[in-house]
Amino acid sequence: MFLVTGATGGLGRRIVQLLRERDMSVRSFVRLTSRYSELEQRGSQIFIGDLQQDKDLQKACQGVQYIISAHGSGGNAQGLDYRANIELIDQAKAAGVQHFVFISVLGVDRGYEDAPVFKAKREVEKYLQASGLNYTILRPSGFASNLLPLAERFRQTGVYLLIGDPKSRTSIVSTDDLAKIAIDSVNIEEAKNQIFSVGGSDILQRQDIPRIFGRIFNKEPIVINPPLLVFDGVRSALGLFNPNAQNALGTLRTLLDNEFFCTRDQVERLESTFKITMESLESYLRRYFGS
Ligand SMILES: NC(=O)c1ccc[n+]([C@@H]2O[C@H](COP(=O)([O-])OP(=O)(O)OC[C@H]3O[C@@H](n4cnc5c(N)ncnc54)[C@H](OP(=O)(O)O)[C@@H]3O)[C@@H](O)[C@H]2O)c1
Repeated sequence: MFLVTGATGGLGRRIVQLLRERDMSVRSFVRLTSRYSELEQRGSQIFIGDLQQDKDLQKACQGVQYIISAHGSGGNAQGLDYRANIELIDQAKAAGVQHFVFISVLGVDRGYEDAPVFKAKREVEKYLQASGLNYTILRPSGFASNLLPLAERFRQTGVYLLIGDPKSRTSIVSTDDLAKIAIDSVNIEEAKNQIFSVGGSDILQRQDIPRIFGRIFNKEPIVINPPLLVFDGVRSALGLFNPNAQNALGTLRTLLDNEFFCTRDQVERLESTFKITMESLESYLRRYFGS
């Protein structure tokens, strides 16, 4: 039995789907307010709970062999990225879980002070490594699935909003490849107690993304490219009314202001360990848009 947190999220949904396609047992941790009927129809157990309630975590871990922690935090890094994962690790240990897969983030070890999600994930990585549990830590770059709504908007308008440096590098990862890697982590010996950077096959510049959209939809991109200063201005103004939101936006600012890509060596290590060929962003988008 796998327990998947964030099962209704962009990644979690794909993990549950793939587990069920392989006829494996999975328990999806969801909130009552989540849209989980699709997971249920695929044959997943549904566990209704709140990741901020320790009792729910304890109950969800009963009878589970593997955990994949794939939840996001929606601005509550302290409560969800940090606290819920620490509790989940403790409960996993108490329940005798065999392997814990943690979805972290690329660049987590660079010490970004203004990025609460990065700080929380780094602390969880350290806690997991010291826990005595078997683990795999995956540090992905940005998910290709996040670009699907932007591509859809581009298809209709031809417009792409690119904040910050267009030449900054990224290696967007296929969310389907990441789901497969997360699942396979629990039974590939070379993945045990390891950390992997996870990126797609190409190192792209951010300005390549609207160009790829343009090729797929046969449309000349109109790129709106405000400097990061505009983002900073909006963030400061927001801070006057809502300091918490200002802090939470530090993670987004860090993402906009830095490069997040995997080296060729890191991708090769991934491909040889998991016997996978990482997909390019263009191939991923063409697959989803059927073009
Ligand atoms: N997206 C990226 O580009 C990216 C890049 C690197 C790393 N990551 C990491 O990868 C993981 C998955 O990201 P994602 O983009 O797939 O996440 P996502 O789409 O933002 O999904 C967040 C999930 O967490 C659940 N959740 C939030 N608060 C909860 C609570 N209190 N109790 C129970 N469930 C709760 C949400 O449930 P509801 O349906 O109820 O809202 C949802 O299923 C995250 O850890 C993220 O930090 C993401």
